[in-house]
Amino acid sequence: MPSARLLVLFGSQTGTAQDVSERLGREARRRQLSCRVQALDSYPVVNLINEPLVIFVCATTGQGDPPDNMKSFWRFIFRRSLPSTALCQMDFAVLGLGDSSYTKFNFIAKKLHRRLLQLGGSALLPVCLGDDQHELGPDAAIDPWLQDLWEKVLGPHPVPLNLDLGPPGVPWPSKFTLQFLKDTPSLDPEELCVARTDPQGPPSELQPFLAPMVSNQRVTGPSHFQDVRLIEFDVSDSGISFAAGDVVLIQPENMASHVQQFCQALGLDPEQHFTLQPREPGVACPARLPQPCSMRRLVSQYLDIASVPRRSFFELLACLSPHELEREKLREFSSAQGQEELCEYCTRPRRTVLEVLCDFPHTAAAVPPDYLLDLVPLIRPRAFSIASSLRVREEGQPRGAGGQAGGPAGQGAHCPLPQAHPSRLQILVAVVQYRTRLREPRRGLCSSWLASLDPAQGPVRVPLWVRSGGLTFPKMPDVPVIMVGPGTGVAPFRAAIQERVAQGETGNVLFFGCRRRDQDFYWEAEWKQLQARGCLTLVTAFSREQEQKMYVQHRLRALGPLVWELLDGRGAHFYLAGNAKYMPANVCDTLLSIFREEGGLSGPDAAAYLAQLQRTLRFQTETWA
Ligand code: 2AM
Repeated sequence: MPSARLLVLFGSQTGTAQDVSERLGREARRRQLSCRVQALDSYPVVNLINEPLVIFVCATTGQGDPPDNMKSFWRFIFRRSLPSTALCQMDFAVLGLGDSSYTKFNFIAKKLHRRLLQLGGSALLPVCLGDDQHELGPDAAIDPWLQDLWEKVLGPHPVPLNLDLGPPGVPWPSKFTLQFLKDTPSLDPEELCVARTDPQGPPSELQPFLAPMVSNQRVTGPSHFQDVRLIEFDVSDSGISFAAGDVVLIQPENMASHVQQFCQALGLDPEQHFTLQPREPGVACPARLPQPCSMRRLVSQYLDIASVPRRSFFELLACLSPHELEREKLREFSSAQGQEELCEYCTRPRRTVLEVLCDFPHTAAAVPPDYLLDLVPLIRPRAFSIASSLRVREEGQPRGAGGQAGGPAGQGAHCPLPQAHPSRLQILVAVVQYRTRLREPRRGLCSSWLASLDPAQGPVRVPLWVRSGGLTFPKMPDVPVIMVGPGTGVAPFRAAIQERVAQGETGNVLFFGCRRRDQDFYWEAEWKQLQARGCLTLVTAFSREQEQKMYVQHRLRALGPLVWELLDGRGAHFYLAGNAKYMPANVCDTLLSIFREEGGLSGPDAAAYLAQLQRTLRFQTETWA
């Protein structure tokens, strides 16, 4: 008999690892294994020593970081005090989700696998390296790996597989039961507002602050390809405070017309109210969902109907479909053989949940409301680097001992600029829009929603909270900083420069890149002013103002002697922020060449020098896709 105690633990940032884990749970149950599925940080980690069989499903985020919901597990598992026999009774397997266009591809899964071996665990299989870059997505690696896994787990005598997904309309049980109310309760007229029960604590995901939007201004020129917005919120009396490098999380909403279409396709009345109950003890209702709740609110604020559906969406729809033709197609899309076709239909053109439901009208109309939260993932908050500082220059500033950055800055340490924005929070948002072969352009949910809000037309409030970010700036005075931030990557550096200038620090070197001076040179006037006052050394790279592309790394290379002197001679910190695609790797290569040519280091020594900067947090990056 197979072990009755299979445990699946996941660390998920965008929901894919959770989705894969839930699939694992379903497959295990179809094989008559009892299986629990849990987020890593919600599992009491000391119990691991008693687990016979654990599958870890974990994503790698950013530059090789663990997802937020496995961070405390991550710290625990690397404690030096853990004995090398701690997990000697455990069989385990690690399924990784990553993106091979990043240098640290599946770094977390690989590192976890090694660590579990060190702690005495026995690996059933090599790490599964799911890859977002693969044509068929991570399933290309996951499908064969799972087959091997079940063979290992069940051994030579597998229990007969319950392959029958059940007759139409009877899939696996839903996570929730949703009960409609007969009457409409009288609700707080401000639909968005969920009363804060603990007004003492700072706003959080459970209790966001409904921040008034003060302004929403396009900052790119009319002929620029991209609509980029500088958006300002009023955070006075919110309990929110932040420092340079922190990020703000914003909870977006679906467009009203999409909400209408979705309700129509599923035959739901947007005004109807319901209550929601989890069926199993481990399942939690979505954070902040009021009870009772209107269908309109559920769809507009919780269900991510603009996301590209995953394979499990098709699997569930196939089970729910009462329509033979539609069911056949949906079954094909959810089968291993149908993955190429599914990719062609859905993933490649970025077709959304709503669009797919409209393509399968008989199925959509038959979806029982109990299954809404199994079918459609929740809208995730989006993180933006904060681009402003709360700090106001304190009286008695400037400190005369401000660092000399070299170059034009540092000539005078006098920076009497009240640049900071007390009680305000600003972000720089590139509105995501692109075309695929579908007629309608694809739009980013959060950026399009933010761009559509116009405080000039009436009050606008946006649910948000703040989290300490990936970048931390030196606390010691007089430490110079070099910041490389092309495009919207400059946002966290604007906050840092404001903060540092308010503290009298003048050793600020900013490398900024954009296409054209007159189209996307954010905060040009402000930089010029700071430069004139000796608080900033600004180096620009306008990529499209000459025949040959000019990028920040080209400027960096040309100023190699200064960069080396600041880093090696003055203990400067180096920061890099912006688009994750090629820029970070290009800038790192340039730095390595500076270390070799200006510092006279060998290739391996240059790499070790960079690694040392990274370890001591003197080299930090914040990148986004
Ligand atoms: P491009 O769009 O003209 O190629 C902000 O997006 C700036 O970053 C733009 O000027 C953009 O140039 C530039 N950029 C694009 N790819 C880059 C890379 N690999 N390294 C550095 N800058 C890059």
